[in-house]
Formats: sequence, structure tokens, C-alpha cells
Amino acid sequence: MNLAAEIEKRRTFGIISHPDAGKTTLTEKLLLFGGAIQKAGAVKSNKIDMHARSDWMEIEKQRGISVATSVMAFEYEGVKINLLDTPGHQDFAEDTYRTLTAVDSVIMVVDCVKGVEIQTEKLMEVCRMRKTPVIAFINKLDREGRDPYDLLDDIEAKLGIQVHPLSWPIGMGKSFQGVYSLYDKSLRLFKAGGKQLHEEAQRFADVQSVELDKVLGQSYANQLREDVELLSDLYGPLDVDQYLKGEVAPVFFGSAINNFGVKELLDTFLKVSPNPKPRKLDEEWVPPIAEEFTGFVFKIHANMDPKHRNRLAFLRVCSGKFERGGNYYHTRQNKKFRISQATAFMAQDKETIDEAFPGDIIGLYDTGNFKIGDTLTQGKKGSYKGIPAFSPEIFREVINKDAMKTKQLDKGLAQLMDEGVAQLFSFELGARKAVGVVGQLQFEVIQYRLKNEYGASVEFAPMQLYKACWISAKDPKKLNAFISSKQRHIAKDKQGKLVFMAETKAWLQMVQDNFPEIDFHFTSEF
Ligand code: G4P
Repeated sequence: MNLAAEIEKRRTFGIISHPDAGKTTLTEKLLLFGGAIQKAGAVKSNKIDMHARSDWMEIEKQRGISVATSVMAFEYEGVKINLLDTPGHQDFAEDTYRTLTAVDSVIMVVDCVKGVEIQTEKLMEVCRMRKTPVIAFINKLDREGRDPYDLLDDIEAKLGIQVHPLSWPIGMGKSFQGVYSLYDKSLRLFKAGGKQLHEEAQRFADVQSVELDKVLGQSYANQLREDVELLSDLYGPLDVDQYLKGEVAPVFFGSAINNFGVKELLDTFLKVSPNPKPRKLDEEWVPPIAEEFTGFVFKIHANMDPKHRNRLAFLRVCSGKFERGGNYYHTRQNKKFRISQATAFMAQDKETIDEAFPGDIIGLYDTGNFKIGDTLTQGKKGSYKGIPAFSPEIFREVINKDAMKTKQLDKGLAQLMDEGVAQLFSFELGARKAVGVVGQLQFEVIQYRLKNEYGASVEFAPMQLYKACWISAKDPKKLNAFISSKQRHIAKDKQGKLVFMAETKAWLQMVQDNFPEIDFHFTSEF
């Protein structure tokens, strides 16, 4: 098969949701359709169980499991689907943000009882920033949830995206009858337990048909007629281009656990979702069809065995064809590497691969050569952009408890930061180091891993910090003057970029007012 055909048949997407909305359940059903797993229960959730908080080995184990499950490739109706699972736990949100840089579209799961929840709002911000096409799946229709019109309003209001329902529920909870597909005008009746998996939906091109009364009963049939009329007035046909630009989110209703509404979602997804698109390497847009292979690392996973420091770097292929055994140019290190080992992630396993195409995610064994954001090419010099670091929300000072192990501590910290576990800021004055994270849990993971993998002991002391702001200015003199006047609050991130460590929101505002010539950025790419 030639490169164009390989690109045409690929869909690479991520599933996002607030924990417990049903992401794992939906993933599993999608894999069942793809024949990638044979029975329910085969996909382990990669969420961190809050009850296991005090058992770090358990977390490590869970993180280990998530390697196998976090990228899942399968084929469905001739399409190669690469599904990227994301940690739902908010303490690992950075990991999710980065994963979203490697996908071409997103399916977002919303719980019909709870509506849009906070974690989904944050993730949607990242999708909006990147203009990623999003499809929403409103789940758990077998429960008494909120009114479907309310849910659509909730998505529009909280997620700042226009919605476009493509299926519509008939009843809900105990009286849930099924969904009508507004996309291909068919009705699927609900039976609990996923029994309708292979049943054909009934086509009802005209909802006025008397047949509909026979199937649904007059009252539900009339309600559906009213809804369909109202919805077609409100939304009209879907403008696929608007979806592809990330301006409109098609919405489906269903119940993942009952495998209901999932086929409609998947079938439509295959019809409308984007295949790999050009990506920006420095200032140049590289189309996937470009002959030269390019790709970037968006995730690094530590090996579970502390005796071996091998890690697995997850690389998204952006253009050309990747071949195992090839010599590829590593932009940051400015040298070529022979890649002799590469794996593909199948639904439940990793397997060695010889080649990969745009949209594919491959795992590269790494002994410390890769960092998140690294670009590999067939020779082209340049880096893929778009994996920004966001300002962390909680900061602690690193206190070395064992001076004999300073080297190990530095090495451990550097490697954990390469993996993107947290962000390290080194203050210009006094050699102080601050670790910034999104969630508390990460400090405990870092402490545990430094001890177990590097033999270093640390404690974390509280720091009064509100935000890390990357700074720049058109006039270097002004920037230098600012740095001199705020020296105690200036640090460098791990790439050596200058960061202003603001103690409080009010103070940051004051400093911004007093230094209008300085630009303060809340992400590392600007
Ligand atoms: P997550 O990955 O987004 O965190 O959610 P997950 O799929 O683990 O689902 C969270 C809970 O919601 C699970 O119940 C799951 O069974 C349930 N669930 C998923 N889809 C549906 C649905 O369509 N209807 C209903 N009623 N429930 C659904 P749990 O009790 O937390 O776990 P489990 O013991 O059932 O696995």
C-alpha cells in the first residue's frame, strides 16, 4: 500500500473525560467493535484509585498498566484506528495535555447525570487552543439524567463550543427507549446488556411514518417527532468543515456500559473525523505525505524495573514512513541515531514493528536520549512545536536530605523532569530549586521514585508561589533591568528559559502594571 493510502486509512484520536464519566467503558466497547478484545473487562482503567493513595507501589503498578492501555491500535471496517487514552485523574493533567498534542481529534465523554465537569472544561481549553475537532458522547442514558436540551446548553456554556446533536435520546433512565440517529435517520431501541450489538438499526427516513407509533408507542413517537422538528430547525445539517475546524462539536447520546449508541458514534466518527494533517516544524508546514519521515516524542514512560533505567518514548509519526533500523536525526542533540527497536501498541500488547506511518504512535526504547518534545527526522533540521508546559499550580522547594547523594538527586530530578512528571525551576539566586506540579499526588510519586530508583532522599518544603510566568521583552535592556530588579524571583526552567515566580495573584498584577514592556506568558511556548 502506498503512503497516501496508509494516511487515508488512519484515524488518531484521544478520549477525554472527567473521572467516572465512562471513558474506560467506552474505550472497551470501541475495542470490542474493532475485534481487538473479545470480552468486556479486558481494559484496565488507567485512573489512579484514590483508595490506593498511600500505596505508591500500587500507583506505579497502575502507571505500568497504563502503558499497555494508553495507546491502542485496532482496525475497524478497513480503517486503522489509533486510540490514545488519557489519565482522568487531575493530578496527572499535564500528561493528558501532552497526549492531546499527538492526536488529530478527540471524543469527549460527558455523564448525563453530572453534566460537564471541571476536568473536562480544562481539557477542552487545550482542544480549543489547538483547534482540535471534538465529538461529544453523552453517557449513562440508562440513568435518570438531566434534560438533553439542558445538557447541550451546558456543553455550549461551559466548554465554549457550539454543539450539533447527531443522535437524540427517547426517554431516559427507567423509561429510556433508545436513540434516533439524526445523521442517518434510523432508530435503535434500547435493550440493557449490550444485546443490540449486532442488530441493525431500523431506518425511519420520515418520522411521520405510522410505523414509528407501532415501534415506540404513540406518546414517545409524538415526542420524538416534535424533537426532530425542533432540532432540524435549530441545527440543520452538520457542516463537517466547521467540525474539522474545531468550531462545532457533533453530539451523540448513549450508554457505554450497555454498548448502546456506541456503534452510531463509531460509524459517524469514521465518516467525519480527520486523518493525519500537516504539522508545523519550526515555521514550515510538513504534510504527512512528505517523503521524509518526521515525528515527535510526546510522552516518556519509565521502566517498571528500577534496576534498569530503560524508558519508553512515545513518538507520533507526522510524515513519511518510519522504518526500524533507520538512522534518524535527533534535532535537539544534533546527531543521528539508529533506531533498532520500536514497538506498536496493540489493544493489549506491545509488538515489535518494522514500519509505521503518519498518525501511528510507536514506542522507542530509550536509555536517556529522549525528552518530551524531541523531534526525529530523516535529515530535515527543525523541531515540532506545540507541546507547551503550562504554569504548575502547586510549588514546593526541594530539600536534599542526604548530601552524599546530591549527584543521584540531580540525575533523578533531571530524568523525572524529562519524563514530564513535574516541572523544575532553578532560582538564579541561592541555588534553590522549586518543583511545580498540577496535583499534590505528584510530590509523593517523585519522592518515592527518587528514593527507589536513584537512592536520593528529599523532602518538599512549602513555598508561597502563585504562578510561574515565562518572560520576554522586545528590548533586551528592559528585560535585563527587570531581571536585576526582581532577582530573588527569577528562575530558569529546564530548558533554561527565564521564568518569573509570582508569589500572589495581586502582586503579579501589580508587577505587570509596573513593567508594561515585559511580556508575561502562562505557557512555555509563546
Ligand atoms: P472513567 O474511565 O471515565 O473514569 O469511567 P469508567 O468507564 O471507569 O466508568 C465509571 C463508572 O460508570 C463505572 O462504574 C462504570 O461501570 C459506570 N458506567 C459507565 N458507563 C455507564 C453507563 O452507560 N451507564 C451506567 N449506569 N453506568 C456506566 P463503577 O461502579 O465505578 O465501576 P465498575 O465496578 O462498574 O467497573
